[in-house]
Amino acid sequence: MAETEPAAKAFLADIEAFLQASGMAPARLGREAVNDPGLVFDLRAGSRSPGADLMDRVRAWMAENRPNDGLAGRTVLLVIGGGIAAYKALDVIRRLQDAGAIVRVIMTRAAHEFVTPLAAGALAGGHVYTDLFDRDAEHDVGHIRLAREADLVVVAPATADRMAGLATGRSDDLTGAVVLATRAPVLLAPAMNPAMWTHPATQRNVAILRGDGVRFVGPRRGEMAEKGEAGVGRMAEPAEIVTAAADLMSGGSSGPLAGKRVVVTSGPTHEPIDPVRYIANRSSGRQGHAIAAAAAAAGADVTLVTGPVTLADPPGVATVHVETARQMLEAVEAALPADIAVMVAAVADWRASETASAKLKKDGSGAPPALAFVENPDILATVGHRETDRPHLVVGFAAETADLVRYGQDKLKRKRADWIVANDVSPQGGAMGGDDNEVVLITPEATETWPRMSKADVADRLVTRMAEEFEA
Ligand code: C5P
Repeated sequence: MAETEPAAKAFLADIEAFLQASGMAPARLGREAVNDPGLVFDLRAGSRSPGADLMDRVRAWMAENRPNDGLAGRTVLLVIGGGIAAYKALDVIRRLQDAGAIVRVIMTRAAHEFVTPLAAGALAGGHVYTDLFDRDAEHDVGHIRLAREADLVVVAPATADRMAGLATGRSDDLTGAVVLATRAPVLLAPAMNPAMWTHPATQRNVAILRGDGVRFVGPRRGEMAEKGEAGVGRMAEPAEIVTAAADLMSGGSSGPLAGKRVVVTSGPTHEPIDPVRYIANRSSGRQGHAIAAAAAAAGADVTLVTGPVTLADPPGVATVHVETARQMLEAVEAALPADIAVMVAAVADWRASETASAKLKKDGSGAPPALAFVENPDILATVGHRETDRPHLVVGFAAETADLVRYGQDKLKRKRADWIVANDVSPQGGAMGGDDNEVVLITPEATETWPRMSKADVADRLVTRMAEEFEA
């Protein structure tokens, strides 16, 4: 039997742990990870010394295919921000460890005013990275490693200032650099004075961060550190933060939509005229993306089919990028069967009947080219009218500039949707491309007018209603 080196031994131990946790057969792991069914057997027999490249590939594959086990074995990078709630972060460390996580800690400059790196380091059982001391050692090289090795980044407490920095992508300290560089989900636990929390600037930043796929836990209502100051702004309790972290790591599979498959369309479509020109509209995709993110946070298995947008793919959501209405329909049908379909995309009603293969030119006559249009498929109506695999709940949106309810009800019938969410997109409402939305939920039985709220809140409320539909 060949001598196994320590690196190969550690590699095999990782593989055995993965196999045990997933119940997967060794041959399948080898085949799917590196197209080599004999790999694990060779390693066990010690007849093979794996190279660094092979080990990296297998580890990357295992990381992607890890079973849903919440926080166990996950590396959580906890950023302790400045603020009186920082003392609670020590309890967060302990609870994360109790849940089986490996905790790494960054303390921001301001956090030093509230807790000492020594206390945090003693609890975390390791070095605490700080913006104060590690600029050379960590900021230049280490932040990429910290970012890459994290399975989850938790910022607790997240101050108003920190959220403003994250919303604008600032990376002038270790925390900003790590959050920009990581591909792991990011969870923020805001804590601040209620007036600061409700300030439009903070709420704008929250909406931007949510749009980028950042998750939030809290803040909660309660008495603040300052005497006589009550309202929303208190940091979520450590137990709640750890539960949110675990849900995020297990794909939220414990949420109210656990086990449900959801298909969401979002964004505009682009319908080509020639190789450089297309027909489009002003949809930003924010509402659709927020619904996909909210459904995933509620535990659903979500496929988001999106037209061209500038938003990040929501974490934990299988995102399919398309350009045209026809591609969108194809991707939606490929994602069926599903329990719920939410068609939010602003699909172009028409496309040019022919796409010119070369750029259309002015011909000198002064006459514009004659463009002929044909109607695009109606994705919502196609899904609503399906005989087989029709989702149990088909939800459409109706963007209107007048007579919301009448047009909404008409759309409900015509497209055979179960619900229509009608929203006012007249320019003075600012819904198209904006942060807020004001909607009316139309069902065959009733109409509900919801107050003006952020698109993220519309998404959360809609997802709650969807979950109730399945409880009934
Ligand atoms: O008819 P209208 O475009 O107002 O309908 C809006 C609803 O229908 C939205 O839910 C939108 O996503 C969906 N729709 C669609 N395919 C189209 C046009 C609209 O799915 N071609």
